Amino acid sequence: MIIDSHAHLSDERLIGRVGEISDSLLLSGLESVFEVGFDLQSSKSAIRLAREYDNIYAIIGTHPHEAKYYDAQTEEFYIQNACNKKVLAIGEIGLDYFYDKSDRDVQRDVFARQIQLADKVGLPIVLHIRDAYGDAIEILDAHRDKLNHGVLLHCYSGSAEMIKQFNKYNCYYALGGAITFKNAKKDDVIMALPEDRLLVETDCPYMTPVPYRGQTNEPKLVNLVVDKIASIKGVEREKIESITYENTKRLFFKYCK
Ligand code: NI
Repeated sequence: MIIDSHAHLSDERLIGRVGEISDSLLLSGLESVFEVGFDLQSSKSAIRLAREYDNIYAIIGTHPHEAKYYDAQTEEFYIQNACNKKVLAIGEIGLDYFYDKSDRDVQRDVFARQIQLADKVGLPIVLHIRDAYGDAIEILDAHRDKLNHGVLLHCYSGSAEMIKQFNKYNCYYALGGAITFKNAKKDDVIMALPEDRLLVETDCPYMTPVPYRGQTNEPKLVNLVVDKIASIKGVEREKIESITYENTKRLFFKYCK
């Protein structure tokens, strides 16, 4: 069984098909999908989908792109809804210095505030870090005592060397369609990820894996990510399915609410 740990079904390319996608998950070997918010509206949408569909769970938070819109009302909404039993984590939060859609000091501030929020409500955090691994480490380090509920690096794109730094915080790592691309990260990065910390995701509708590049990504294509990891590691795909499933369960369903 597989869990797609990162999806954006609320995107206009997928929202009209959520019923069909939810109905057919099992047929594709998936148990569930985690719908990830990136601002107040999309977090509300994630909670709505989680309420409507048994096999969809919600992750709520403000993405670094949207950090400039993070305000007291947004924060209050996240705190109030963290106790919803289908809200699994605060995310996706972090730093994105590639697009710089919010000022970097605002990104850092909003990232830190949401780490503190997640600690207060007792949930893991899901991180989006792009071209900002150094600053991310600095902020995690400053919040070392607030990371006890778990940290997931979504779409890990750092180096093998950087993994050692993140391992200090017992981070988990999710791999998606990007590992199937021609210019994909080196196999040594995938080999360096601790097996008991590895998850899979689609990040759909983005990051469509080869050979479906150019089409809209969707949860069932996470199977291609599982296949790719298995082939790089030279193991049966069933092994990757089972370790990523167990890791996802351990990280997100640790506490019975
Ligand atoms: Ni995402």
